[in-house]
Order: sequence, then C-alpha cells, then structure tokens
Amino acid sequence: MSRYSYVNGRFLPHRDAHISIDDRGFLFGDAIYEVWSVRKGELLDADGHFGRLQRSLGELRIAMPVTIPALKLVIRELLRRNRVRDGLVYLQISRGAARRDHAFPPAGTLPTLVMTAKRVDFTAADARADQGIGVLSLPDQRWARCDIKTVNLLPNVLAKQAAREAGAFEAWQVDEAGKVTEGASSNAWIVTADGVLVTRPADNAILHGITRATILRIAREAGLGVEERGFTLAEAHAAREAFITSATTFVTPVVRIDDKPVGNGAPGSLATQLRQAYLGPN
Ligand SMILES: Cc1ncc(COP(=O)(O)O)c(C=O)c1O
Repeated sequence: MSRYSYVNGRFLPHRDAHISIDDRGFLFGDAIYEVWSVRKGELLDADGHFGRLQRSLGELRIAMPVTIPALKLVIRELLRRNRVRDGLVYLQISRGAARRDHAFPPAGTLPTLVMTAKRVDFTAADARADQGIGVLSLPDQRWARCDIKTVNLLPNVLAKQAAREAGAFEAWQVDEAGKVTEGASSNAWIVTADGVLVTRPADNAILHGITRATILRIAREAGLGVEERGFTLAEAHAAREAFITSATTFVTPVVRIDDKPVGNGAPGSLATQLRQAYLGPN
C-alpha cells in the first residue's frame, strides 16, 4: 500500500512529497511542529494539540496557513488515505521558502505546511510500559524558549542518542540549579515517598506537554496530591515512582535513573493507573 503525505494543499505519494531547499525550516529551523497519536481512528487530546500549534505559531509570528476546521478535515483525509486507525500524525509549519536571509522573508511569503501519517503498532509501547524504562541524566543545553514546539531539536537529538548509547530509553535534562527540566521528547514526573505527584511547572524551560496537562487534570479529579515544582535528581532517586508523559509514550514508568533503581525497581502502581486512565479501556 502506498503512503501519502500532504504538502501545501496537495496529497502526494510520500516519495514524491518534497519542499524547497530554500525552506526556512530546513535553513534556520524556523518552523514549528505537532504530533498526535491516533487510537481507534481518533486523535488523542486533539484540541490541546491544535491549541498549542496556534500558540507556537503566534509566539514566532508565523501565520496559520489554514483554519483549524480545514486542518481537521485534511488530517481526517490523510488518515483515510493511509488507512491509519492506530498511529501518528506529524505536522510541520515553517515560515516558508525565500532567498536566504536571517530576518523574516518579504511579506506575502507563504508558510510551508507538511503533514505525514503512519501506522503504529502500540504493542511495543505497551510492552515498554509493562517493563518500565531507564533514563540517563545529563545537563540541559537548550535555549530559553523550550515552551515553543520548534523543530530546533539538536540538543534533544544528542541527549536521546546519549541515552540510547547508555542503554536507556530517555534522557532527563537537568538545569543549572540542579532541577530536572524534562526528557528529550517527554515530560518528567516523580511520585514522592508520601504519594505526591511532582512535575515541573509549565515555565519556559519545558514544553507544555499536552499529555502532561491531561494527566494533571486526571490526577486532580481523582483527588491525588499534585505539586507543580522542580525536583532534583536526588529527589528522583529517593522517589517511590517516576514516569514520563508524551503523545507517543502516553504514561510510561521509569524504573532506573542512571545506575540507580527507582523505588523497588518495578513500574509504579500510580503511573500504571494513570496510563490506564489516560488510554481508557482497550
Ligand atoms: C521536549 C518535549 N517535552 C515534552 C513532550 C511531551 O509533550 P506532549 O505530551 O504534548 O507530546 C515532548 C513531545 O514530543 C517533547 O518533545
């Protein structure tokens, strides 16, 4: 079955889907992106991701190339053409293609909109959640606006690769004050010895995860103790549980940080319950 992608108003076979080498996303990383998981044909946390997409564009003063209702129709068609019932949608919008100059391009330069969709077998992610993952800690080397979902992911790429080379699934980045900011592609959480959920507040040092926001809501509705504050690696090592959240990993327990087990070294019950609450019955 051939795969279709969407480029500036057209559905194209994936191998024929191209953008200009003058595209500012390619030249400067002058672009934002979004990722949705698709389960049983539906986008998870759809509106949260559409809202963040608009915010990212607004922060960078890139015009939204289509309306949200039109975008929803395009995504639906992309899923249909690719026969995706369980999978991912990736969207990227750049400031467009123009003669190379750091400053914004001439007025009227159209943003570039690219979307891809692919099927994902979530059983691997489920197995990972059943086992729990290891994380590697390292210094956060990123810029001061990590709240914007830009494609400038080089520090995240290097952090993730370092994690993989150390046999870990994710990297936890640590700021100069010794507090964990977030993962290379996920938000970071711990559960303290007395059962309080802790995650860093949605400041400019982290991406305001849509899964994070939903888990905060679920936890508060369930009456769990929640604190939005920074935590150190020492606190994480002493925690009862730790986990990550993201659109593609949902809630995934962390069982090892560097060379030390978290809690009893097995996935925590709160993380497991939150994952089930997030995904709903199978
Ligand atoms: C750096 C970073 N933090 C957090 C997240 C989690 O955000 P979300 O839950 O919206 O996927 C991501 C997702 O890719 C990310 O790249």
